[in-house]
Amino acid sequence: MTILVTGGAGYIGSHALIELASAGFDFVVLDNLCNASSEALQRVEAITNKCVPFVLGDIRDAGLLKQLFADYAINAVVHFAGLKAVTESVAEPLRYYDNNVHGSQVLLQAMVEAGVFNLVFSSSATVYGDPVEMPVSEACSVGRPTNPYGRSKLMVEDILRDLVVADRRWRIAILRYFNPVGAHESATIGEDPNGIPSNLLPFITQVAVGKLPQLSVFGSDYPTNDGTGVRDYIHVVDLAQGHVAALCYLQENAGVHTWNLGTGQGYSVLDVVHAFELVSGAKIPYRLAPRRAGDIAVCYANPDKAFVELGWSAQLGLERMMHDAWRWQKNNPNGYSNK
Ligand code: NAD
Ligand code: UD1
Repeated sequence: MTILVTGGAGYIGSHALIELASAGFDFVVLDNLCNASSEALQRVEAITNKCVPFVLGDIRDAGLLKQLFADYAINAVVHFAGLKAVTESVAEPLRYYDNNVHGSQVLLQAMVEAGVFNLVFSSSATVYGDPVEMPVSEACSVGRPTNPYGRSKLMVEDILRDLVVADRRWRIAILRYFNPVGAHESATIGEDPNGIPSNLLPFITQVAVGKLPQLSVFGSDYPTNDGTGVRDYIHVVDLAQGHVAALCYLQENAGVHTWNLGTGQGYSVLDVVHAFELVSGAKIPYRLAPRRAGDIAVCYANPDKAFVELGWSAQLGLERMMHDAWRWQKNNPNGYSNK
């Protein structure tokens, strides 16, 4: 079975390639490298000892997609390609809607024309907005995401639900990721954000290697144990394995299916800082700062549905997440670049 992996050179996509390969899937990667390096794919080749077919291009290029579906006997698409920086999405909403929503539409149209109806889509817990219920299950209503990035994810989810009503051939998995962190155990692939990281873990690891002076803890007056925000951090390898489970499920089940991919365990910002310090031996200087606009106090998953239906559950705990994130950062202080 051959999978088209859009955005396969990115953080989660590159980890998913390894799990797809070990589950016996063939694949071809489509990525425009707007937020990735082809070096990641070379490292995936080294880990899997397998050639990674790669097409440099954009999901909005209908002609290219037509050619790709003609050149490869593609059975399913795992669709990671998208822009994901929340602040950037506020500053450049049109770019985000064009890339994430219009891009997905072009991809879906090409799939219809090629007769490919199996899709796994990267959504986000952000679609729940400020969840009314904790832990948040798939049955919770989707809220109003607080930014254009989140709204772009919800719009694509809505399109996918509409497609299944219109055509019963579709088999679609919507995966709502919680907070992916960590790296492959080889420490040769990992998260490589551009510029100053906005997410917590890459910020911490860059403080640890001395690239940034100190962490700002955004908010210390939330109604949580220590006043700092609580999230469901999930190891990227566990997350990647969830995609394999979803693809297998779609082989047996038509329609649209939505799963939370999280651990079900919430940790505060200070829990994460302390866990990282323990594992790395590094001291993370931090200051308590005001809340970040758009942040919610607490968000963690009820992951039961994925366990019952997919037989999937996260296996790797916080300590392992910290360990792997640290090894990746330490061994690759400048990510994939040789600066
Ligand atoms: P990433 O930026 O590392 O990977 C995305 C990849 O898509 C990059 O390699 C980028 O070059 C590529 N890409 C972007 N636009 C493209 C286009 N128009 N055509 C072709 N390639 C394009 O991000 P990631 O963390 O690996 O996230 C993967 C997906 O998961 C994204 O859709 C993201 O929104 C979603 N997601 C991520 C998180 C997270 O915290 N990392 C959380 C929830 C959801
Ligand atoms: C953010 C996005 C979300 C996106 C997700 C993955 C916002 C409001 N939400 O989620 O839409 O899907 O990233 O890309 O941006 N923190 C600090 N200091 C920092 C960075 C973060 O204290 O320097 C705190 C945050 O306030 C939060 C926690 O750490 O409590 C996690 O933050 P982050 O990693 O940015 O993820 P989310 O905010 O959950």
